[in-house]
Amino acid sequence: MSQYSSIPESSSTPESGSVPASGPSPASGSAPAADWGAVVGTLRAAGCVFAEDEARLLIEAADTPAALRDMVAQRVAGLPLEHIVGWVEFCGLRVAVDPGVFVPRQRTGLLVRRAAAQAASAPGSVTGPAAAGPAAGPAAADPTAAARPVVVDLACGSGAVGMAVAALVPNAALYAVDIEPAAVRCARRNLTPIGGQVYEGDLYAPLPDRLRGHVDVVVANVPYVPTDAVGLMPREARDHEPRVTLDGGFDGLDVLRRVAQRAGDWLVPGGQVLMEIGEDQADAAVGALTGTGLAAAVENDDDLHAWIVVGRRQR
Ligand SMILES: C[S@@+](CC[C@H](N)C(=O)[O-])C[C@H]1O[C@@H](n2cnc3c(N)ncnc32)[C@H](O)[C@@H]1O
Repeated sequence: MSQYSSIPESSSTPESGSVPASGPSPASGSAPAADWGAVVGTLRAAGCVFAEDEARLLIEAADTPAALRDMVAQRVAGLPLEHIVGWVEFCGLRVAVDPGVFVPRQRTGLLVRRAAAQAASAPGSVTGPAAAGPAAGPAAADPTAAARPVVVDLACGSGAVGMAVAALVPNAALYAVDIEPAAVRCARRNLTPIGGQVYEGDLYAPLPDRLRGHVDVVVANVPYVPTDAVGLMPREARDHEPRVTLDGGFDGLDVLRRVAQRAGDWLVPGGQVLMEIGEDQADAAVGALTGTGLAAAVENDDDLHAWIVVGRRQR
């Protein structure tokens, strides 16, 4: 599997990990045994390595036998399991993910962990109610009110990253942006109930101006697959995730460079911008961040096969 791809071909369980470990029988017990065996057999014949886990999820998701047949047919045709059942398990949360929206990958847990640690240790830049809701304004406006860290999830897709950071840092004021209308709709479904604000547009452009210089954390899992490598990705990704979610340009770092260029305008001094990268992009990514005046370093998690670049506004 390419280092850039997270979803294997439909013959195996997505790395995105919506399939929790389970026993070989339907968890709900609602599906007749005949359905269970037939679904497992059909999925296995189609090449699904984790056919029993997938069967259990499909059976749980289907309201009627006709719906189940339809879902199995979609899976056999190569649709990502997450798009069929409508959710993915990410960082211990159930995140809604709609067709046409990037399926969060488990490796992005590193980005979440590091962004949450930074947000939790930030002094806080705005005031407002102690929930992951919109902030009232810069903390200096009301020195008696509790300061809250401002977290911006740029290129948010389903909003999974922001949602997971907010679960770890409940007093964060969360803002999210994506350029794709389908992603924005999906992110609103995930983030509005926890008080997050979701905007549609190009990177920082739609953010409220009052956040300039007050953002503690920009967390941005932007597209970082080099254009030539997109065609090598598993079919599920190529066919079912829009190109704008994957293609990062010639060396994969076009969007990362644009995020880096403007980060200093939005971050509070000491604030950080964190982005996921491929292992072989580490030097170029550090160069892109230091070139804008940020201090930068790469971190990785061997177990997750994950790499991130972290930039810090120095003053
Ligand atoms: C790799 S996906 C990551 C989605 C989400 N952050 C996650 O980890 O699940 C990249 C996302 O960036 C969005 N995107 C691409 N270019 C963008 C831009 N210029 N401004 C805002 N979002 C953009 C895509 O629509 C896609 O949802």
